[in-house]
Amino acid sequence: MEQTPTKLEMFYEGKAKKLYSTPDPDLVIAYFKDDATAFNAKKRGTIEHKGVINNQMSELFFTLLERSGIPTHFVRRLNDRDMLCKRLQIVPVETVVRNVVAGSMAKRLGREEGENLPFPIVEYYYKSDPLDDPLILPEHALAFGWATQEELDQIKSMALRVNEVLSRFLDERGVLLVDFKLEFGRHHGKILLGDEICPDTCRFWDKATRQKLDKDRFRRDLGGVEEAYQEMLRRVSN
Ligand code: TMP
Repeated sequence: MEQTPTKLEMFYEGKAKKLYSTPDPDLVIAYFKDDATAFNAKKRGTIEHKGVINNQMSELFFTLLERSGIPTHFVRRLNDRDMLCKRLQIVPVETVVRNVVAGSMAKRLGREEGENLPFPIVEYYYKSDPLDDPLILPEHALAFGWATQEELDQIKSMALRVNEVLSRFLDERGVLLVDFKLEFGRHHGKILLGDEICPDTCRFWDKATRQKLDKDRFRRDLGGVEEAYQEMLRRVSN
């Protein structure tokens, strides 16, 4: 039985997780909260059991991605709400991959939600709460030193690979992967996939009915939020 590392100090609290240092400087513990926010925390609430579900679902997806050759920060799940991860120096760029028009893309470009894209589109957003995470070009990340060209190339190819692996896995479980957001970071000079992969960070639609099984139920007050998270966990666990 592997020893459970102790949590030392909390060094970061985000909207959905708290991060703790451990005796090993290379490892951190992520604690998954039930807090839910939307629109840069202008809307706040809780989604019961969300932390437990997102921890489990992230474990499942990270394990799948690692098996498919995509390096991630995931080490192991410690308990219901704690995940042991490699410590990352986060690249301040959020990477979004889209297969179907939805959310901010529909709004920005005046397109109908649900339109299939002819190929996956990768977008980048600058991670900045005061600026509401604006859409950027990869050139902005280069010009302002947020990432090197080599890192951006790796991030794009890893994001597209994640899309292939997750889309296929979810399709087999009756789920359409509409879009999702990824975060990457550096660990001993290597780019690893970080953060979490869950209904907070992805749009999941039932393939047959197009019913939303993700955080849009919270963002848009559609009801059935907890049930949607449970249903997604059930589908990916089979
Ligand atoms: P968007 O359509 O609002 O730009 O969202 C694209 C994807 O990114 C969607 O799957 C939800 C996810 N996302 C986050 O994980 N965090 C965020 O802060 C936002 C705005 C979106």
